[in-house]
Amino acid sequence: MPAARTSERRASARRPAWTSADGASRLVRGDQATLFPGLAADSIDCVWTDPPYFLSNGGTTCKAGRRASVDKGGWDRSQGIAADHAFNRAWLAECFRVLRPGGTLWVSGTHHVYLSVGMAMMELGFRLLNDIVWEKPNPPPNLGCRCFTHATEMILWAAKPGRGAAARHTFNYAEMKAENGDRQMKNVWRFTAPGADEKAHGKHPTQKPLALIERCLRASTAPGEHVLDPFAGSASTGVAALTVGRRFTGWEIDAGHARLAVRRLCEAERTQAERER
Ligand SMILES: C[S@@+](CC[C@H](N)C(=O)[O-])C[C@H]1O[C@@H](n2cnc3c(N)ncnc32)[C@H](O)[C@@H]1O
Repeated sequence: MPAARTSERRASARRPAWTSADGASRLVRGDQATLFPGLAADSIDCVWTDPPYFLSNGGTTCKAGRRASVDKGGWDRSQGIAADHAFNRAWLAECFRVLRPGGTLWVSGTHHVYLSVGMAMMELGFRLLNDIVWEKPNPPPNLGCRCFTHATEMILWAAKPGRGAAARHTFNYAEMKAENGDRQMKNVWRFTAPGADEKAHGKHPTQKPLALIERCLRASTAPGEHVLDPFAGSASTGVAALTVGRRFTGWEIDAGHARLAVRRLCEAERTQAERER
């Protein structure tokens, strides 16, 4: 294991960097591998996460019209196909353990990671429900001109199976249909990348749009249910969860990203409190 990952692991298991006023939601700076054992089995209603894609490997992309190297951080470097798959299997096995029967898991990714994630989900016994295609209307151009412009990400949605009616997964079908002009919602969703308003507290290199996560949570959970994100980044999952009235637990290994997450969570909590007043 590279030195960076080893020292990051030692920096784990701290008290929360942020806790909501009602004590029901928190963000902890630390390594998901050391934090998972502290969560009880069957205690989480939903996981929404955006794990490392393993794509910061010396390639280039187009940023603000210029060629730039893809370097999102040491956490995003591939350790080889077998090690990357073992990593995915390990955290997905923990998600399986902590999810209640009928609880669901959403995992976003590009082709660098979702094939491994999907394989691990099948190996672990998750029931795949949907592969949501997130279409980006404004993707960066493909400078290499050797393949099509990458304009999508995949979000795999899967359930932890269980017995009986209580273990049926939640799908708020009517709400999704109403949101889609009273027609069944398809699995192809169009959302722009987060704009300046969602980056007002700082930038995360792989920040996800709030509207996208909010839809997933509204579709698959009830108000007050508990959402986990083991790779929280700037806490987009947390902000979305608070906005739609769900509880949140998030973990983030990087100190800078965790500080950004705390700023965003504080603002989300304030906004929510004003809305309820
Ligand atoms: C793809 S980003 C998530 C971005 C997030 N969805 C957002 O909107 O900001 C993955 C995050 O996982 C964090 N991370 C990587 N390895 C981790 C680990 N072992 N434990 C906890 N967090 C980790 C990285 O620092 C990074 O911020």
